[in-house]
Amino acid sequence: MVVADDAGVQKVLKIHRLGRISFRTVKANRDYLKNGQAGSWMYLSQLAAMKEFAFMRALRDEGFPVPEPISQSRHTILMTLVDALPMRQISMVPDPASLYADLIAILLRLAQHGLIHGDYNEFNILIKEERTPAPSTSTSTSTSTQSPSAQPPAADQITLVPVIIDFPQMVSMDHVNAEMYFDRDVACIKRFFKRRFHFTATQPGPFFKDAKKTVGKDAARRLDATAEASGFTKKMAKDLERAIALEQKLAEEKAELKKEGKYFGADSEENSDDDDDDNDQEDDSSEDDEEPEEEERGQAEQQLEDDIPTFPRPEKEIPVEKLTISEAT
Ligand SMILES: Nc1ncnc2c1ncn2[C@@H]1O[C@H](COP(=O)(O)OP(=O)(O)O)[C@@H](O)[C@H]1O
Ligand SMILES: [Mg+2]
Repeated sequence: MVVADDAGVQKVLKIHRLGRISFRTVKANRDYLKNGQAGSWMYLSQLAAMKEFAFMRALRDEGFPVPEPISQSRHTILMTLVDALPMRQISMVPDPASLYADLIAILLRLAQHGLIHGDYNEFNILIKEERTPAPSTSTSTSTSTQSPSAQPPAADQITLVPVIIDFPQMVSMDHVNAEMYFDRDVACIKRFFKRRFHFTATQPGPFFKDAKKTVGKDAARRLDATAEASGFTKKMAKDLERAIALEQKLAEEKAELKKEGKYFGADSEENSDDDDDDNDQEDDSSEDDEEPEEEERGQAEQQLEDDIPTFPRPEKEIPVEKLTISEAT
């Protein structure tokens, strides 16, 4: 959501909504919700906001190309608006190899700092155009308009600069499933470049085992304990991780059902990678698609009054693999 401050400067207010839509559509998870507040959307969304804010800050301080985080309150964070388009909406780039190399370099630099993005896809990579005026006398206007004069004006130099967003699911290079997350991020970029830009890197990899050796190298400050440093308890980390895994699982299942033409539920555009990548520039900001029911909101507001770390542990854990979408709301 784009908002403006007192001076009219536009900012992005991100409202976290973890566990709000999908969870209520899963029967097994409704039971889970009854079991304890660890399934509450407000608790989980607040954790997501806290974690995202902490990582955005740490990454920004380390010089990574991320928005500037401004503040965090409850389940929202405020950050600077990046004047850029998600890569998803870009149909052509002049030099895919160079952009690909930049994105892989960011991924490897994150690894060096002990981190894996965990959702490194075309929605979470914004592409900024940085224009350097051509070294000509007059100011050239557009790069595409033809000049009627014999001497066409020199075109501005345009550099594509990626900016990375969306950090609630960041994981450590020491995570038990780190290799899977790392490989998935790499595969995501490769797949997108192949489909969209028809570009395939000549070099294989990068591989997790090589990246792992670089963790902390060249005096790189480890950032994987960032969440803990910002007040996250182990339980909070676990609750959040489980919830995110669930949502990813549900998004995958939904994408699968859609592909088979069997999905008839409410459609909130998620980061699922559907196959229709040809110029479909749909708006994936379905902010107001579903509000929690009044009663639910009341409970959530109540929970906010409590101190987060005191939430009781759910009695039993639900293995993510066992969940299926039983109905759609
Ligand atoms: N700081 C920002 N500047 C510009 N656009 C942004 C910014 N943050 C998010 N967006 C836009 O909003 C979309 C969703 O943001 P994201 O943080 O990825 O949320 P979600 O968790 O819903 O995926 C992005 O794909 C991007 O288009
Ligand atoms: Mg995103």
